[in-house]
Amino acid sequence: MQPSTPARACGIDFGTSNSTVGWWRPDSDPLIALEQDQSTLPSVVFFNLEERRPVYGRQALAEYLEGYDGRLMRSLKSLLGSKLLKSETTVLGSAVPFKDILGLFLGTLKARAEAAAGRPFEQVVLGRPVFFVDDDEQADREAADTLAAVARKIGFAEVSFQYEPIAAAFDYESRIEAEERVLIVDIGGGTSDFSLVRLSPERRLLDERQADILGTGGVHIGGTDFDKQLSLHGVMPLFGYGSRMKSDAPMPTATHLNLATWHTINAAYSAASQRSLQSMRYDIVDPTGIDRLMRLIEQRAGHWLAMQVEAGKIALSDETRYRIDLQRIEQGLEATLTRPAFEQTLQPLLERLRTAVGELLSRAELGADQVDTVFFTGGSSGIPALRRSMESLLPQARQVEGNRFGSIGSGLAIEAKKRYG
Ligand SMILES: Nc1ncnc2c1ncn2[C@@H]1O[C@H](COP(=O)(O)OP(=O)(O)OP(=O)(O)O)[C@@H](O)[C@H]1O
Ligand SMILES: [Mg+2]
Repeated sequence: MQPSTPARACGIDFGTSNSTVGWWRPDSDPLIALEQDQSTLPSVVFFNLEERRPVYGRQALAEYLEGYDGRLMRSLKSLLGSKLLKSETTVLGSAVPFKDILGLFLGTLKARAEAAAGRPFEQVVLGRPVFFVDDDEQADREAADTLAAVARKIGFAEVSFQYEPIAAAFDYESRIEAEERVLIVDIGGGTSDFSLVRLSPERRLLDERQADILGTGGVHIGGTDFDKQLSLHGVMPLFGYGSRMKSDAPMPTATHLNLATWHTINAAYSAASQRSLQSMRYDIVDPTGIDRLMRLIEQRAGHWLAMQVEAGKIALSDETRYRIDLQRIEQGLEATLTRPAFEQTLQPLLERLRTAVGELLSRAELGADQVDTVFFTGGSSGIPALRRSMESLLPQARQVEGNRFGSIGSGLAIEAKKRYG
């Protein structure tokens, strides 16, 4: 029997790139509209310096692209588990701990969900990656503790976690008709998370599902890493990445790396970073690239460039070539991205994903032929090379695609209903 009253609690999928809030109600889509009628809120904050206010989501991206002066922050979740989390950053003229910026974003999710639902939420099930941090238990625990503390600070009285790929499993389970053994593959913006689960229409209503969770695994690899590879190989060479110094040493790459990584783009604008480029310039054999780099920084166009690269990456899921127009930096300048070159740069990352799935299967003592279905979710699961790579591991399994951006939030809504009534 399906319960017939709306859940008291909500689930929040705080994603590296996109966030959703799920609230279970009988016979309706659990995802709450967070920005006009959209159920995702891009995990982005823009501190608009001219109007002295923070804005979020698509509006944040739009104001940044319209050229408002201010500071854009994306990939906030990547701060969890990074050393930056303990530091402060300057926004609107004052020093603000990064944690408080997380609080602003999560607080916005809560407030918008409550406004749309017409009632407050005091309990929440937060999604979490299987690992916030690879191979460092303490840092991983700190990341989860920080997220929980932020959730309490913004007003949730009770906070609990569920693994994102388990939540996705519960979403998929709500539409199957017979028992299946399923590998959930959730490739998002920051992490790749996996779970091996036994799902069935009968067991779906049970509160205790531990016996059906055959294993979980994950690696800190996601769309932002794919963006980084594409940027470093396809675009940054035009900005001096790989240039030679007169001493024949390669040009230092700190600025290129900062610009290719979403959550460190602002570091490329620091006075120290700019001074170091200026002093380097005279020692470079051909300064064409570094001059463009300095222009890019002068224009504070790092996020703009990263967005062009990301758009190119997404286009390469359907097309074989993509041209990035860089006239903003220099007349006639463009970068051409191709699918084969992109796939080449992905290989080492895909290998790590395959290893993680292989280890998960062997920990669960399951052969590849014992998995009935592979369920894909997460935006990055749209990459054809990634799908092929997973297919090659489990050639017999049926492939199913979930709502790439909504499965986790929907599954967390189901979990919140079970846990809190
Ligand atoms: N068609 C596509 N092809 C390739 N990548 C895509 C496509 N659509 C979206 N992406 C990428 O998917 C990522 C966002 O996916 P998603 O919203 O699932 O991540 P997230 O839940 O925010 O991150 P995480 O779960 O890792 O914290 C971004 O890196 C985006 O560029
Ligand atoms: Mg996700």
